[in-house]
Amino acid sequence: MRQPLVAGNWKMNGSRASIEVLLSGLKSGVQAVKVAEVAVCAPAVYLADVQSQLSGTAIAWGGQDLSTEASGAYTGEIAASMLNDFGCKYVIVGHSERRAYHGESDETVAKKYKAARAAGLVPILCVGETLEEREQGITEEVVARQLDAVIELEGVDALADGVVAYEPVWAIGTGKTATPEQAQDVHAFLRSRVAARSEAVAAGLRILYGGSMKPGNAAELLAKADIDGGLIGGASLSSDDFLGICTAANS
Ligand code: PGA
Repeated sequence: MRQPLVAGNWKMNGSRASIEVLLSGLKSGVQAVKVAEVAVCAPAVYLADVQSQLSGTAIAWGGQDLSTEASGAYTGEIAASMLNDFGCKYVIVGHSERRAYHGESDETVAKKYKAARAAGLVPILCVGETLEEREQGITEEVVARQLDAVIELEGVDALADGVVAYEPVWAIGTGKTATPEQAQDVHAFLRSRVAARSEAVAAGLRILYGGSMKPGNAAELLAKADIDGGLIGGASLSSDDFLGICTAANS
């Protein structure tokens, strides 16, 4: 049985003051979350605040990106060991915004997955097609290529240490959610692709959906057999909305 994971991706939002309010809302509501594991992925500069506010609670935290390198002359980069230093459990790798605005290739993302895993962090590997790719009918080809880059570099067993998030680019921040059936089809495809190499890894792999997930659509998405949680952007900035999604996994 896979425990659902609902992870917030705050992206480049918030301030010390707003994060304190958000986290106190989450802390007071999290006991109603019976089933899902809950995590928030914060901007790196706020991780110390997040650590001090969430230590000893049921909420885990993580980073939004990391370097492929362990340390050294890489101005502006954040190493996996630094995320460890602030108690991170998770780190997002290969978010579509990193791929689009920072030119991260499948190979770079796979190296980030490797760096996270080597440091004992749980990478959340994002995959997903653009609208153009969906319309061309190449969704499976795109997500397969993104997934295979990690398998080729690290082997299929590496997926046992991570989480995959299917995030159709056209659904991110647009208010357009994939239908539960559209999402389930891609999740099932991803799982079958892993199963072709290892049934056991596929059976244990948590595949999250991301893209305009909200309290109002979470339950029907999470009810699908291969949707094991969510990676939540916009709705993770409100404690009520985020907790609404987390509790949708209860039923
Ligand atoms: P969204 O973002 O929930 O605002 O669509 C999801 C994500 O980018 O992880």
